Amino acid sequence: MRGLAGKRVLISGGSSGIGAATARRFLEEGARVVLGGLDQAEVDAAVAELSALGEVHGLAGDVSAQADVERLVDGAVEALGGLDVLVNNAGTAWREPFLEITPDHWDRIMAVNLRGMFLVAQAVARHLVAQGSGGVILNMSSTNGLGGEADYAHYNASKGGVLLLTKTMAVELGKHRIRVNALCPGYIQTPLNASISAGLEGDFVSSYERDHIPLGRAGLAEEVAAGYAFLASDDAAFVHGTELVIDGGQLAIM
Ligand SMILES: NC(=O)c1ccc[n+]([C@@H]2O[C@H](COP(=O)([O-])OP(=O)(O)OC[C@H]3O[C@@H](n4cnc5c(N)ncnc54)[C@H](O)[C@@H]3O)[C@@H](O)[C@H]2O)c1
Repeated sequence: MRGLAGKRVLISGGSSGIGAATARRFLEEGARVVLGGLDQAEVDAAVAELSALGEVHGLAGDVSAQADVERLVDGAVEALGGLDVLVNNAGTAWREPFLEITPDHWDRIMAVNLRGMFLVAQAVARHLVAQGSGGVILNMSSTNGLGGEADYAHYNASKGGVLLLTKTMAVELGKHRIRVNALCPGYIQTPLNASISAGLEGDFVSSYERDHIPLGRAGLAEEVAAGYAFLASDDAAFVHGTELVIDGGQLAIM
């Protein structure tokens, strides 16, 4: 991918799943990386696993807490001497029928997936504007931001919100040469999905792959990392204010 070597990249939620695969991909492209995550031990383990590939630092914290976000972004700027790319990836999900969602559960999903996305994006954007050399912000949405999967009303609403947050940021930040886009992965094999499907009866994963995904399989975290790398690269220099769907054809089904 063109233009990623030497880039200073912050990846929120970079300690597991898609984010960890993305940290690996950016390091392989010659970028310098700070990865975040909720759990200190998981962050330390990811840094230890990736450090042979290049310069990688870790910072733990909760993206829904403003003080933690300030520590994350200030720490990344200090560790890398500035920032060029934000992969705004941290998020959480669980299944819950609409009729049973409690206000507390609604608030937690919104706090992590939408408020957290906003807080990290705003802190990084303020830094990029002050730095004056443009940049890239990539926000993690989902196919669930484009269609209403049953039992995920809070998650779907949060990811739909990420898409309009992305478009509005693109409108306001383009004049600062900051490109902003979103990713919409479909069903990807990660620890998050493994824990959701572990609670379901029968062979949920293979019937889901057969019935919902034209390519007949779940996606890999590396296949989403490739989307992040493309959107951050110079090959995507005129891609702005939109979303990239990576779903094996799931949304093409009528
Ligand atoms: N797995 C999928 O099928 C899929 C599909 C579409 C979108 N997504 C999105 O991709 C992103 C990554 O998901 P994943 O499947 O790799 O999950 P994962 O559970 O493997 O990784 C989630 C990452 O986010 C971090 N995180 C979670 N809550 C946090 C918080 N409050 N503060 C800071 N960090 C926090 C975790 O520490 C971890 O690093 C999420 O935003 C998710 O909604 C996943």
